[in-house]
Amino acid sequence: MCSARSMMGLGVFSLLLPILVGLASCHPIPGRKNFNKLLLISFDGFRWNYDQDVDTPNMDRLAQEGVKAKYLTPPFVTMTSPSHFTTISGRWIEDHGVIHNMMFNTETRWKYSFKTTQKKTEWWDNGVLPLWITAQRQGRKTASFHYPGGGAKYKGEAVQRSLVESYTHPDSNETEWRENIDIVMNWFTKEDFDFVTLYYGEPDNVGHKFGPETENRRVIIQQIDRTIGYLVEAIERHSLTNHLNVIITSDHGMTTVKKKPNVTEILLIDYIKFNDSVKFDIVDYGGFGMLLPKPGQEEALYQALKNAHPHLNVYKKEEFPERFHFAKHKRVLPILMYADSGYNINGQFIMYFNKGDHGFDNVLMDMKTIFRAFGPDFKKNHLAEPFDSIHIYPLMCKLLGVTPEPHNGSLAVTQEMLVDSYDQQPGAETQRTLALQKTALGLASVTGFLAVLFVGSVIYTAIHRKKKQRADQNSKSGPIRLTQF
Ligand SMILES: *[C@@H]1O[C@H](CO)[C@@H](O)[C@H](O)[C@H]1NC(C)=O
Ligand SMILES: *[C@@H]1O[C@H](CO)[C@@H](O)[C@H](O)[C@H]1NC(C)=O
Ligand SMILES: *[C@@H]1O[C@H](CO)[C@@H](O)[C@H](O)[C@H]1NC(C)=O
Ligand SMILES: *[C@@H]1O[C@H](CO)[C@@H](O)[C@H](O)[C@H]1NC(C)=O
Ligand SMILES: [Zn+2]
Repeated sequence: MCSARSMMGLGVFSLLLPILVGLASCHPIPGRKNFNKLLLISFDGFRWNYDQDVDTPNMDRLAQEGVKAKYLTPPFVTMTSPSHFTTISGRWIEDHGVIHNMMFNTETRWKYSFKTTQKKTEWWDNGVLPLWITAQRQGRKTASFHYPGGGAKYKGEAVQRSLVESYTHPDSNETEWRENIDIVMNWFTKEDFDFVTLYYGEPDNVGHKFGPETENRRVIIQQIDRTIGYLVEAIERHSLTNHLNVIITSDHGMTTVKKKPNVTEILLIDYIKFNDSVKFDIVDYGGFGMLLPKPGQEEALYQALKNAHPHLNVYKKEEFPERFHFAKHKRVLPILMYADSGYNINGQFIMYFNKGDHGFDNVLMDMKTIFRAFGPDFKKNHLAEPFDSIHIYPLMCKLLGVTPEPHNGSLAVTQEMLVDSYDQQPGAETQRTLALQKTALGLASVTGFLAVLFVGSVIYTAIHRKKKQRADQNSKSGPIRLTQF
């Protein structure tokens, strides 16, 4: 009899508990507004040491007022779309599948240029989510200004605000560069965007056209430096100095192309019969190439090319060095080639006019690029050791208070750039911990109160029952008070 009474009390208690827990966890966690905003800027093809033979007062000042890494190592293949997508997703290229600037189809033999791919979701959306989408799903407002991949949809979801570069977009109009900064500042202040990525096509364009060791390149670096000066002014003008973190980085470096008569150029037709053995090829695109052999031709093709040229490295897909984290993706063709620094991989003709190029091994210093950062959450005058660009992703997630997707980076590499008090600041992750603690505390007191009430009711009922037993009453009344809670 006594146990029936206790069961009833417990029953009411266990009915209430989930409701209480539900209430506590549905309660919005404060802190969203306490994370600072983040601007990621990429200047395409900015080699790590481009600021060392030209005056860059603004970049120098930022090194004093923020963080500068000695250099940054991009992923292999050191190419624009693949590298940018690693930065925005924290995944190796063989995972995210954007393996080249060109989209291609080995059946139709179509190749789509870098700019044509920008709105082609099927090239970008391979199951790995870029940070824009992850942040949006967690309540942040995000935008992309010309950043590679920003114009595609991921699992059906577009970036909230996305501007895609037009075909005729000029790469080096300084006035337009400043206007773009003003637009982005207004997104932050007037429309309360939390995360914006901004892309510039220089100094890559000038590096290709004139070569990295030229006056033209030094001139464009000075233009970039003035633009960074303008950015700092714009941040002050919009009162964002204490609310906006900025990361300035790039996707790869640049090296001077080696040409005859100085060197023997690589020309594949000298070693293989293209029409007999190759079904489809990606060559004539800097220092990296891939071949799809015709059926039964793979071994012959590989043997013919393996030792063909002293500066050409040839691999079967399954033997491509692990350290590149490149070859596992299904889009990668069965035979891969990369050339030593400065050598172009030409197919059937030498029709190459670039003076500078990239796409080479990411251990080469000429392929290394830049990392700079400043803002309220970054240390001042901090020189960071070199690191891989894959680690930028967890840093950005941390700054935005966004839970990352599975990724290949490590926050341990980049966390030291943040102010020592970062995790103690109200508004940082502590705010969430505090909120959770409060929730837990509230829950504990409610639970305690309920327990007391429950025990009380059991005792009360027991006494009452004894009385009533004596009075020969049945025991249906029970601890009603609890149900009114
Ligand atoms: C540069 O951009 C500005 C602003 O968009 C425009 O007014 C100007 O005509 C452009 N200059 C050139 C040379 O295209
Ligand atoms: C050959 O090398 C010399 C010395 O490095 C350089 O000045 C010249 O521009 C090179 N020529 C070509 C065609 O690359
Ligand atoms: C190879 O095929 C292309 C077109 O498919 C043709 O234009 C070219 O002449 C062929 N080359 C040889 C060496 O047969
Ligand atoms: C990269 O991360 C993904 C997701 O966690 C994982 O599946 C993959 O094995 C990682 N790659 C490497 C080389 O560690
Ligand atoms: Zn690039």
